[in-house]
Amino acid sequence: MIPQVKPQLGREEEEAVLEVLRSGMLAAGRQVREFEEKFCAYNNSRFAVATSSGTTALHVMMEAVGIRPGDKVFVTPYSFIASANAILYTGAIPVFVDIDPATFNLSYQELEHAAKKHPDAKAILVVHLFGLPADMLEIVELAHKQNLILLEDCAQATGAAYRGVKVGNFGKAAAFSFYPTKNMTSGEGGMVVTGDPAAEEKARILVNQGQRRRYDHEVVGYNYRLSNIHAAIGLAQLGKLDEFNRIRVENAMYYQQRINNPEVIKPGLPADRTHVFNQYTVRVKDREKFTSYLTARDIGFGIYYPQIIPAQKPYRDNHAGAWPAAEKLSESCVSIPVHPSLRRDEVMFIADAINNYG
Ligand SMILES: Cc1ncc(COP(=O)(O)O)c(C=O)c1O
Repeated sequence: MIPQVKPQLGREEEEAVLEVLRSGMLAAGRQVREFEEKFCAYNNSRFAVATSSGTTALHVMMEAVGIRPGDKVFVTPYSFIASANAILYTGAIPVFVDIDPATFNLSYQELEHAAKKHPDAKAILVVHLFGLPADMLEIVELAHKQNLILLEDCAQATGAAYRGVKVGNFGKAAAFSFYPTKNMTSGEGGMVVTGDPAAEEKARILVNQGQRRRYDHEVVGYNYRLSNIHAAIGLAQLGKLDEFNRIRVENAMYYQQRINNPEVIKPGLPADRTHVFNQYTVRVKDREKFTSYLTARDIGFGIYYPQIIPAQKPYRDNHAGAWPAAEKLSESCVSIPVHPSLRRDEVMFIADAINNYG
C-alpha cells in the first residue's frame, strides 16, 4: 500500500534525540530555545513560543491576544476541529463562514457578508488549509477596516507564502503544528508566533503554568511546554523543511499537469501564492466508488474532512446555519498521497491510475 502520509525521519533526528537523552536534560533546555529562535528566523517572525501541540498553540494564541468569553470569532467550518475548539476553550463563540470550493479556504465574499451581519465580532481565525494560503490581501484589508483581530492557523502550511510573505506574519499572531502528518514534525508540538511583545510575553507565561519566575504564578496557566526531545526532532526537521516542501510541490505539480480525468476535479491554484501541499485534495462525484478503486490498487487516501465542524456533536445544537460549499466538499473530497517520501514511480503510478478511473 502506498501510504497517504509518512514522515521522513533520518540519522539527524536519531542523533539529536540521543544527544538529549544522554544529556539527562529532558525539559526546558537549550533545544527548545534554539527551536524557537530558528523557527523565527525561518519564518521571518519576530517572536516564537514553542508549545506541546498545534492545538495548545491555538489555545494559548487566543488567550495571549485577549480573546475573551463571549467574543465572536469568524472561522471556517471546513478544517480540523481544533481550529474551532480553540475558540470554545476561551469561552468565545465561533461564527462559521462558508468557503470557496476552488481553494477549500474561507470565502472572502462570505466573510464580508458575515462581518456586516456581526459588526460586534472581535476576530478572524484564518486557516490556510492543505498548505494553501487564504486570500490574505482582502482578509487583511477587511480586518483592518472592521477593527478585527486577525489570527492565523498555519498548522498545515509551514513554509507557505502569500505574495512572497510567509504565512504567520499577516495578523496579530499565528499557530503552527508539528504533528507527524504535517510538513515538518517534532512528534507532537506546536509554535505560536507574533510580532507583538505583549502577546509573546503572555503566551510564554501561559504555556508555563502562568509563572514568570519559578513558583510566582501571575495567572492560571497551563503546562503546554514542548520537551527537549521534541524540540530536538523539530530542529532537525526544520533544517529539511524547504526540501520537503520542494518535493511536495514537485509531486503536486506532476498531478496538476498529468491528471486529465474529467471525473476528478483538481485543486485550484491561485498564482499569487506558494502552496506547500500538506494535502493534495481532489473532488469526485462518487467517493465510495473512487476510494474503492484506489484501495484495489493499493493507493492510500485520506478524507479531510468527512463532516464539517458545525455538524459535529459538540457544535450541532448551538450552531445552526448553512454552509453549502463546505458541506458539498465534505462529501466529495479525497486526498491522495503527495508527501516527500513518495518515489517518482509511485507518483506516476497514482496519476496514471486516476486517469484510468471511470
Ligand atoms: C488546521 C489544523 N489546526 C490545528 C491542528 C491541531 O494540531 P495538533 O494536532 O498538533 O494539535 C491541526 C492538526 O492536526 C490542523 O490540521
